Amino acid sequence: MHPMLNIAIRAAHAAGDHIIKYVDRAPDLVVKNKGRSDFVSDVDRRAEAIIIDILRKAYPQHAILAEETGGQGESEFQWLIDPLDGTTNFLHGFPQFAVSIALKFRGGLDQAVVYDPLRQELFTASKGAGAYLNKKRIRVSKRRTLQGALLGTGIPFGDSQDLEPFFSTLRGMYREIAGIRRAGAASLDLAYVACGRLDGFWEFGLHPWDMAAGALLIIEAGGYVSDMQGGGDYLESGNIFCANPDLHRELGALIKSRSSHTFP
Ligand code: IPD
Repeated sequence: MHPMLNIAIRAAHAAGDHIIKYVDRAPDLVVKNKGRSDFVSDVDRRAEAIIIDILRKAYPQHAILAEETGGQGESEFQWLIDPLDGTTNFLHGFPQFAVSIALKFRGGLDQAVVYDPLRQELFTASKGAGAYLNKKRIRVSKRRTLQGALLGTGIPFGDSQDLEPFFSTLRGMYREIAGIRRAGAASLDLAYVACGRLDGFWEFGLHPWDMAAGALLIIEAGGYVSDMQGGGDYLESGNIFCANPDLHRELGALIKSRSSHTFP
């Protein structure tokens, strides 16, 4: 195993162990609003500090971009950290949240960990070495058409988000497919695409720390990840769609056919 992946797994487990202690204790937590419907708790902050401490001890020179503390340092190695993806779920006792840690090297995704501490599911990937769930190789689904497909998505929230691009794509898809899930933790949605539980996923307005690890999982599991134009700017634009190669083509055509709306 790549040594940097090993350290990321150690950090994800330590953060997960911390988070799990507070499951069902949400009423005792100090919760702050970062924006409308955007929350942070002591648990997010402490989990992030635990992760950063472990990464820093191993790699003091590496740069970090973390959800709660932002960017630190400059290096060709950069860690992208979401200590508790699915905070709103967590605060409601809704059992769908994860720790997400990715490493970029010279701008490319290199290592990925998404850890679901409730189910103890550890999704990992190293560039060029495949994707794994609890050490077993995973692959994207083999479904060839949208008919019968199960897709994941995220519904925009907060004041700043334009709802129309989302509804435009939703209107285009819902008749074609078997179902749509909005589970509330983007990193896990992406991990589920990587292991074939979901056939595809799309969302507007994500942050790089929500997506980076999940995107590498999908690429290493044989899937395609892109922005809404089919290009590679998803980490920058925040707009992502992904699926197995056949469905990615079909979904891409469908998203383009909604082109009465210009996607960001
Ligand atoms: C959120 C979740 C959610 C997505 C939001 C994200 P957070 O992350 O991933 O599924 O729809 O856009 O902000 O804030 O809980 O880390």
